[in-house]
Amino acid sequence: MKEVSNREGLPRQISYDLYEGDSRKELVRLARDSSEKEKYRLIVTSPPYFGHRHYGEHAEELGQEKTDGEFIRNLADIFSAGRELLTNDGSIWIVIGDTRRNMHKLMIPHRLALELVKRDFTFREDIVWYKKNNIASSARSNFSQAYEYILFLSKHEKSFTNLDDIRVKGNEAREGRNKTPPEHRIQYKPINSDRRKIAELEEIIHGAKPNTPFDSLPSTSEISRAYGYDPEKHCPTCYRKFKRHATRKRIGDHKHYPIFAVCNPAGKNPGNVWEISTKAHYGNEHFAIFPEDLVARIISFASQEGDWVLDPFMGRGTTGIVCALTGRNFTGIDLYANNKKNADRNIANAVRGRYDKKLVEDVARQTELMRVLQDRGTLTLQDFLLTDGTLSSR
Ligand SMILES: C[S@@+](CC[C@H](N)C(=O)[O-])C[C@H]1O[C@@H](n2cnc3c(N)ncnc32)[C@H](O)[C@@H]1O
Repeated sequence: MKEVSNREGLPRQISYDLYEGDSRKELVRLARDSSEKEKYRLIVTSPPYFGHRHYGEHAEELGQEKTDGEFIRNLADIFSAGRELLTNDGSIWIVIGDTRRNMHKLMIPHRLALELVKRDFTFREDIVWYKKNNIASSARSNFSQAYEYILFLSKHEKSFTNLDDIRVKGNEAREGRNKTPPEHRIQYKPINSDRRKIAELEEIIHGAKPNTPFDSLPSTSEISRAYGYDPEKHCPTCYRKFKRHATRKRIGDHKHYPIFAVCNPAGKNPGNVWEISTKAHYGNEHFAIFPEDLVARIISFASQEGDWVLDPFMGRGTTGIVCALTGRNFTGIDLYANNKKNADRNIANAVRGRYDKKLVEDVARQTELMRVLQDRGTLTLQDFLLTDGTLSSR
């Protein structure tokens, strides 16, 4: 450790500590400090790729090891030390890409996950971060790399989770094509659903044999109407027409497959493929930056306001910026003084409300803010942030 920045009581009321140093040593040092042990609900980070690029000249820089095995061991050591810093319901999220050597991929994410399970972590999920703006490769014998993994591991079997704050609206897969319907075309609640008609339709559908002519089954519009939904109106969550919520066929052996299912009005579970664009570099910051909206989704799901969040490879401080915007306290570590300086400036700006509007929108899209906004109708995001006092004006 060389220098510490500690900012208490800034307008957003978060605290943050930034350290310059090698994470391997810094995490061990923090784990020895009784006030740091079990302090963090969440560790979220994107380590360097193996064998790709140099961030500086430091001999302890990760990713520059002679072998991939050594790289994985070093990373696993860092996260093992991090495990002691986690609360008992804490989790670790690692955004990690693979490295290709000639024809073969080294399976870095998979091997790291296996190593961490050996070290007592519970492997909860491997999320695919699909980079929809990925750059097509000129390779002829393999494919362009269009995704990275997000490994989600918890300290124990169960961890703190909050799905409600990251539910999504609209059809993600067709974002941009499936436009938000106008308000008067959305139906929020059933009107005059007809139990007797529903029972009648279910009997016909569930009694259908493989040779039952399809057109003798009730139409999806008829089903939708029986449930009290105008078949031509749109669902407030997925934006599909209600006639698309109805099905006439049983699927396989799923005897109880609903013939009509409404989405959760609070939004859908986002699933484990996250389609999020990578961001252009900010000014002269040339990092493999992870996008704010990706971090925001993780932070909103795996922590709550007032919690402490740690990033042992903080780079320009993206995790810290999102913490400032969502009211989490933050500790960040990076090997290079220049990164610490930039992170400090970026987080301080976010805390003081000197934010990039696009950035806040990206964060809000993944968090409860957007839902509040939508519920408030006409209020713009900017207005909301100002009236709520969450952030002050630039
Ligand atoms: C992929 S970048 C992280 C970018 C970050 N997520 C952001 O949004 O800016 C990896 C970072 O790890 C840092 N790093 C490399 N080796 C390190 C080590 N041994 N200890 C701490 N940080 C290290 C690099 O300086 C670099 O900033």
